[in-house]
Amino acid sequence: MAVASVPGKTLAELFLSPPRQAEPCVVRGWVRTRRTTRTVSFVELQDGSTLRALQVVFAHDRVPRERIEAELHTGAAVEIAGLLVPTPDRPQPLELQAERYHLYGPADPTTYPLQKKAHSLEFLREIAHLRARTRTFQAVFRLRSGISFAIHEYFQTRGFVYVHTPILTPSDCEGAGQLFCVTTLPLAQVPKRPDGQVAYERDFFGRPAYLTVSGQLEAELLAMGLGKVYTFGPTFRAEPSHTPRHLAEFWMIEPEMAFYDLAATMDLAEDFLKFLARYALTHYTEELAFLAERYEPNLLPEIEAVVQAPFLRLSYTEVIEILQKSGKNFTFPVSWGSDLQAEHERYLVEEYARKPVMVYNYPRAIKAFYMRQNEDGATVASFDVLFPRIGEIIGGSQREERYDVLVRRMQELGMDLFPYKGYLDIRRYGSVPHSGFGLGLERLLLFLTGLTNVRDVIPFFRAAGQMA
Ligand code: 4AD
Ligand code: MG
Repeated sequence: MAVASVPGKTLAELFLSPPRQAEPCVVRGWVRTRRTTRTVSFVELQDGSTLRALQVVFAHDRVPRERIEAELHTGAAVEIAGLLVPTPDRPQPLELQAERYHLYGPADPTTYPLQKKAHSLEFLREIAHLRARTRTFQAVFRLRSGISFAIHEYFQTRGFVYVHTPILTPSDCEGAGQLFCVTTLPLAQVPKRPDGQVAYERDFFGRPAYLTVSGQLEAELLAMGLGKVYTFGPTFRAEPSHTPRHLAEFWMIEPEMAFYDLAATMDLAEDFLKFLARYALTHYTEELAFLAERYEPNLLPEIEAVVQAPFLRLSYTEVIEILQKSGKNFTFPVSWGSDLQAEHERYLVEEYARKPVMVYNYPRAIKAFYMRQNEDGATVASFDVLFPRIGEIIGGSQREERYDVLVRRMQELGMDLFPYKGYLDIRRYGSVPHSGFGLGLERLLLFLTGLTNVRDVIPFFRAAGQMA
């Protein structure tokens, strides 16, 4: 059979508007399963456009049984022409009565790793190149696509400008030192200066360069001209921990707004997350129902709760008191000044508040240099959003817009001011209060999918010691 020259319809389109009466049809996709009886074979065909499969019936007097048994194995790619018949009295509303088919690519059943049964997520992580053929990953990746679109919709309809910030950068935004260095210097024989330091002046940019950990610093510069901006791009952290919540390459959404203080920014973050949760519920019903059934029975009520309930807002100091009075025996001790650990965050969200919590005004010593110093001299105008099952999903702050205060803080931290010349300059000319936050896309997707490992919500994961 010649390959049809028309694009044909996707299964999603066929299920959305099924024909009233039998009509000729061409479909393309991959065999999910096959069952053969004496007179007919049944093939379930999937094409990635919907989680549903189309039942295709091959009568052996029309298509020889031997050919079907030799070729139509799980994973084989085919084009099938036949008669599409409505079957309203059966569980599936449609069936294709095949007349002929073309085999694009066979899949040898003795070596093809995917079977009809559901595989463990751990197993699928080892064959990430084939994961998109499973319903789980089709649901996850379609949701990831839709949420990305919704993120743009949210900001674009609210007057934000989408800005592309660089991936190669001279500075460490978060000051946490988790940088991947980018160099063209020969690693086997790195040129050195007389004092033993690396001769970066002979490197590609003539100075050290890294993969960015955040687009925030450049977003701030752009917000000082454009007002409200957002970035949405990949960020990189040489994060050595092997947790299910950390990737070395992840996607972050970072809005940055001139004239916003901390409270206005927390309002924006809450509204944004509610919008995305509602978007998933209304546009991805099929995917969420599948994921809830397979992975997280409480998924829909939890997403619904994010939409409905106002987030609880607590200062860091209040949180420390709550944790100390909780009567819990935490592994990490709780005292004013120490950072909140995952166990503390989960207690707060899952036992104390039973809904998302926003913690604000953290101690200055545990937060990044750019956060605005509060009047108390001890805290900064920062906030984190904590979600059930996930912990921190957003980190943000009001930025230090006072030139002198910022320079003093950077000097106090022993930072080299040279890479931050432009960042400091915007504090010298027309500086205004401004704020922003970063949402980790994969953390949000963990929440929306009910999955528990960030490696399962990005198509090809990069984490310490692992490249899918
Ligand atoms: O709290 P973080 O480090 O904040 C920033 O990078 C700020 N510059 C954001 C801003 O104010 N514009 O990271 C923000 C979010 C975290 O809350 C988390 O959701 C996610 O990014 N994140 C990670 N996700 C996956 N893997 C990692 N290694 C992550 N590190 C942070
Ligand atoms: Mg953070």
